[in-house]
Amino acid sequence: MKLIGNKPVTRYSVTRALLTTMSHYLSLKNVSKTYDDGKQLNQVLQSVSLTMAAGEQVALLGQSGCGKSTLLNIIAGIDRLDQGEVHVADIALHNLSEKDLTLFRRQHIGFIYQSFNLIPTLTAIENVQIPLHLNGFKPADALEKARTMLERVGLSGRIEAFPDQLSGGEQQRVAIARGMIHSPALVLADEHTGNLDAATGRDMQTLFNEIARDTKQTVLMVTHSEAVAEAADRVIEMIDGRIDHHSNVVVKQADQSNANNNDRHSQ
Ligand SMILES: Nc1ncnc2c1ncn2[C@@H]1O[C@H](COP(=O)(O)OP(=O)(O)O)[C@@H](O)[C@H]1O
Ligand SMILES: [Mg+2]
Repeated sequence: MKLIGNKPVTRYSVTRALLTTMSHYLSLKNVSKTYDDGKQLNQVLQSVSLTMAAGEQVALLGQSGCGKSTLLNIIAGIDRLDQGEVHVADIALHNLSEKDLTLFRRQHIGFIYQSFNLIPTLTAIENVQIPLHLNGFKPADALEKARTMLERVGLSGRIEAFPDQLSGGEQQRVAIARGMIHSPALVLADEHTGNLDAATGRDMQTLFNEIARDTKQTVLMVTHSEAVAEAADRVIEMIDGRIDHHSNVVVKQADQSNANNNDRHSQ
């Protein structure tokens, strides 16, 4: 059995309690990534360092192609870094095997995509239950939880609809419900309002923020939207594979963020 520190990595060893008591919930240290297409090397991430407090909501801005999605994929363990370190709570993700990384992602990470990525042959309520099934919930419990979550996102009348019977805004509500249903401690959103009109995107962001704050989730959102950036505790910018620590760094709602952390520590 694989060990992290002196703890074995098993399905339930990385507990939510552990994950939410860390003051630096997410920590990236000198993360670098280069793609090799056989003809040339493309250094997409250049020594990226970033820390996020538990419960903090950060918006990540940057031009297309600067490496934002690659960074999220590395944090989610979908992609591998070449150099550097990624810690979520005290778990060194860069040292985990593929199997442990998959387990970790399944339990503790929620991902919300620009294109929703719903499974077209499953209904809304079936899509939302997927993370629960993967985490071993009983079918009846998963169904009930999914029903409650879809109610929360305002879709109680549409739970049996298939994705192509739903509007873009409704599909994204389903995707948010699915991304958050298993109470992941870390939610990663990649341009989650990018395919929505401004008003729908704003509504979506309000809903997303509410759920994340209620459940004390740490959130990293890639976005081009001012509304999303305004709703975040902190805004950071990426330029050509680097996080720009000198310009456009806006720290907001610090009191709120600290209050969240204090809550968490007293639990
Ligand atoms: N799997 C891959 N293989 C090769 N190059 C990739 C791959 N994924 C992304 N890239 C390249 O990495 C750069 C950054 O991409 P990406 O992280 O998607 O940027 P962003 O999300 O900021 O638009 C781009 O030049 C892109 O072409
Ligand atoms: Mg992208």
